[in-house]
Amino acid sequence: MMHTGFSKRIMFVGIILGALAGLFVGATESRGQDSVPPEQVAAHVHAVIEADRSLYTEFVVERLQQAGKVIASRHWKNRSQLPLPAQMLMFAGLEVEGMGSGLKYRLASLWPLEEENGPANDFEKAGLEVVADDPSEVYSGMIKRGKQKYFKAIYADKAVSQSCVECHNGHLLSPKRDYKLGDVMGGVIISFPVDDAISLEQVAAYVHAVIEADRTLYTKLVVERMQQAGIVLATQNWKKYRSQLPLPAQMLLLAGLEVEGMGSGLKYRLASLWPLEEENGPANDFEKAGLEVVADDPSEVYSGMIKRGKQKYFKAIYADKAVSQSCVECHNGHLLSSKRDFKLGDVMGGVIISFPIE
Ligand code: HEC
Ligand code: HEC
Repeated sequence: MMHTGFSKRIMFVGIILGALAGLFVGATESRGQDSVPPEQVAAHVHAVIEADRSLYTEFVVERLQQAGKVIASRHWKNRSQLPLPAQMLMFAGLEVEGMGSGLKYRLASLWPLEEENGPANDFEKAGLEVVADDPSEVYSGMIKRGKQKYFKAIYADKAVSQSCVECHNGHLLSPKRDYKLGDVMGGVIISFPVDDAISLEQVAAYVHAVIEADRTLYTKLVVERMQQAGIVLATQNWKKYRSQLPLPAQMLLLAGLEVEGMGSGLKYRLASLWPLEEENGPANDFEKAGLEVVADDPSEVYSGMIKRGKQKYFKAIYADKAVSQSCVECHNGHLLSSKRDFKLGDVMGGVIISFPIE
């Protein structure tokens, strides 16, 4: 009896351990191979949002204001003025939401200038309080709306320049007037649906959606409007002139470098089989094959796993099309162009996105 009871117990423990081991292996394998933890997904998305926001603030708004060319204001629309950085983030969030992937984001605060930017529920309120106390924290969790589960993450939004402080402290609608440089002023709230796991393709699609939304808004609301109003031009050599704007392609490339420096592992760039700048050509056979595939059929996303040393990466390539006549004219007429017959709607290159997989 003793003996039987003993071995039964061992067997029982053995089965449990075996089952657990199986579970863990299964879990790590599926995580490692074809999905990304939601925290990491939010970190990638946040990196792109932050990079674009800080480049827009520093290289566009502050430069042009200092040059006395144009200011940013909430009422930019009818006045040849620039949208505020907060508005650019909000517009991009709406644009991304409209693309229908389920990804959403917005800027909020416990001390909002606009009521609708306050916390929408207890989760958001708690999160905004946590990041206001410690901006290095990321407040996150799973929430449910109807039957759908969402992952939600809140990142601190800090007063990175004196202009943030001055405008908010001095604003008619501000419930708080003692911000100092470096203070937390609010938070970026990111959410996306989670069923079981978030596939690698889905992560690339989220990142691509943010990149595209920011690029389109920068092109339409900033570059084209400023050029049409005769205020400033976007040129390749913008850095040499106090009052020129970076080209949309350069903004994307600069943001890619900035994101790379943030350390989430995410990288992206703009490339082409007919690059104006040699370094924008395909870096290897995978990229060459991908750029060819999306050039043939822009609705395709070329993706796959690559290895560098011991690290595996997921890489996805999206078509980049001539969405306006200015793309065509500038590239066809450029001194360094190896192709001079681009037409409206043609694929001119691709956005290459990659991130490491555990
Ligand atoms: C010229 C004025 C101005 C400047 C400069 C400015 N903001 Fe704002 N900010 C606004 C306005 C106006 C809104 C409301 C925008 C809306 O919802 O239409 C806003 C919205 C926000 C929000 C969302 C909550 C709220 O107050 O409605 C945060 C957070 C925020 N800004 C942080 C910043 C940070 C950080 C900076 C500097 C990088 C900055 N702002 C620079 C005017 C400004
Ligand atoms: C005023 C000129 C100009 C306009 C307009 C322009 N580009 Fe470019 N584009 C450039 C330059 C210059 C580069 C190289 C930037 C660098 O690497 O510094 C570039 C880079 C690129 C690249 C990366 C490969 C390469 O050629 O180096 C792609 C793809 C691209 N542009 C597509 C577009 C699309 C699509 C549009 C329209 C939405 C557009 N461009 C509008 C000048 C322009």
